[in-house]
Amino acid sequence: MSRVRTLATLGTALVALCTPIAALADPLTPTGKWSANTDGSAAVPPMGWSSWNAFNSDVDEEKVLASAQALIDTKLRDIGYRYVNIDDGWWLKRRQPDGRLLIRTSHFPSAATGADTSFRSFTDRLHAMGLKVGIYSDIGRNSCGQIYTPDFKNQPEGSVAEREVGLYGHVDQDIRLFFAEWNFDFLKVDGCGARGLPVDAPRVKSGLYRALTPLVDMQSLGGTDIAGIRRLYEQVHTALHTHAGDRPYVYSLCLWGAGDVRAWGKDVGNTSRTSDDIQPVWPRMLTNLDTVTHRALYAHPGSWNDPDMLFVGTGDFDAAHSAEARSHFALWAMLNAPLIIGYDLRKLTPDLLAIFGNADIVALNQDSAGNQAVLAYDSSEVQTFVKTLADGSKGVALFNRTASPAKAVLTAEQLKMLPTADVRLKDLWTKKEQSFRKEIAVTLAPHETLVFRATGTRRLPGGLYLSEQTGRVNPATDGVVVPQPDPTIYQSITPWTGTRGGGEHPQYGGWGGAEADRAPYGKLLRVAGTDFDTGIGVLANSRLEVRNQGYARFAAKVGINDSGQPRSGTTVFEVWGDGRLLAKSRPMGFGEAAVPLEAKVAGVLIVELVARGSGAAANAATPQPAIWADAALLK
Ligand code: GLA
Repeated sequence: MSRVRTLATLGTALVALCTPIAALADPLTPTGKWSANTDGSAAVPPMGWSSWNAFNSDVDEEKVLASAQALIDTKLRDIGYRYVNIDDGWWLKRRQPDGRLLIRTSHFPSAATGADTSFRSFTDRLHAMGLKVGIYSDIGRNSCGQIYTPDFKNQPEGSVAEREVGLYGHVDQDIRLFFAEWNFDFLKVDGCGARGLPVDAPRVKSGLYRALTPLVDMQSLGGTDIAGIRRLYEQVHTALHTHAGDRPYVYSLCLWGAGDVRAWGKDVGNTSRTSDDIQPVWPRMLTNLDTVTHRALYAHPGSWNDPDMLFVGTGDFDAAHSAEARSHFALWAMLNAPLIIGYDLRKLTPDLLAIFGNADIVALNQDSAGNQAVLAYDSSEVQTFVKTLADGSKGVALFNRTASPAKAVLTAEQLKMLPTADVRLKDLWTKKEQSFRKEIAVTLAPHETLVFRATGTRRLPGGLYLSEQTGRVNPATDGVVVPQPDPTIYQSITPWTGTRGGGEHPQYGGWGGAEADRAPYGKLLRVAGTDFDTGIGVLANSRLEVRNQGYARFAAKVGINDSGQPRSGTTVFEVWGDGRLLAKSRPMGFGEAAVPLEAKVAGVLIVELVARGSGAAANAATPQPAIWADAALLK
């Protein structure tokens, strides 16, 4: 704690010192551009299968090909499950002295093509099946298996140097091999090697591994070299650009929400893990889910939040637990998580196929607007998520987190629809249809998620609220000065420590910043005593980029949220269009009623919303919460 405080004070002092000379690099300066990642091929969340949850590192060619064939036989490929990804366990060693990676040909016999070993015939075969293929590496010198699960099968072999199979020092060589030579389409890059090899670790002292000064500390951002770890992941991005050529690729970041990846993952990769590993147990699914629920504005076409792969089919999510399995699947779909099956598809049952193969629910995930569901109602028992789809209809999930039945009410207002007109609901599990006005009461079975597609009369005709188009709103700068872990994340008992030690506290820096229909830190939107159920809440000293799809007008009411600390200081709200200032508020202080702010944006491609704090509003460790209430783009 004291370390964080010291850093914050230092940060503020540095900002003050640097501002006059660093004006050009001011992150609040509008650029007229969209800065979140759009490289690669992830306009919608990637879907497919991975070996890890099914087999851990005990992976081989036969298992992978059998699951690939199952994707075809079951027609899962035809509704979007196209990626077949090998995770940890494929590598044998890094040959010395030329550094070429060698494949474990005992497990991948088609790779035994001579001294060089090659995955090319393997990827050719999968490509010929109409599939895409993924491979796995680590940003450090060593793999997760070597460091954290050395008892698992198929660990790299040989001398210290031969066992250094990670990308560190070999980025260009390995990415060229994976993409230009072996023709892979997807790369997951883990981060264990940059975390687990401090000089005093027993595995280093014993001479098994070379030390690598950790860049990432899972427990503390103060102990993390944020710029250093980001730079390494950016190097991989650059190498992908070079070596994938014109071929589409997916770059999947696996830093578990550590390293302040919350702030930069969306600018570097196509998907970014927000949590440590999922397990096939209900409480752990809750933990992973909770790491994405407040982060709708950080996910866009080309850059998705990743709460980890699906465990549908296993443990608490097996065929005997259909409520749990369906909830896990539906929630992942609603939150635009990659839908990567982690089940041995040779054992697929009709019940499980009905879950993976629910085309209506898959369609929520793959909707072209790319809006992650927004938390409409929140509690530790029931949560309501609403996802605005490209055709203006809504995906809705009513989720019972508890092991008891729960009563829930869904309101037309939560859907941003008129309460006086019919709202039609189609249940995406049973396909039954019904309609209601104002609100509807339902009972949720233990752990059940009801999923609907809803249509009705929009409350805002001729426009779209920004919180209904989160896929087009990017918090380029979100005002967070001191990153904090999200305290709302369910703290499950991890299988790796059990109840030994003091417990794993939420360690992921995903808190604060920008939220849809909420103020930062999960607070409700309320300015000078007036409640708003719609808007974007962000901290002062922030800049949001908004893609304008042909709208003529921007309108909002701006002010400081009542949850704000400090109360002194002011924030000015500015609207920019393709780099030109269009409108500006007077300085707004705590307790002042929200004021209208409008701008003409016809022909503008990128609208930027800048909230500039001054005085205490700017310099606090937690700047003022700046609210763009009812923010909308209108015809
Ligand atoms: C880490 C990742 C997992 C998996 C394993 C492989 O734990 O988070 O998803 O890739 O490594 O060892």
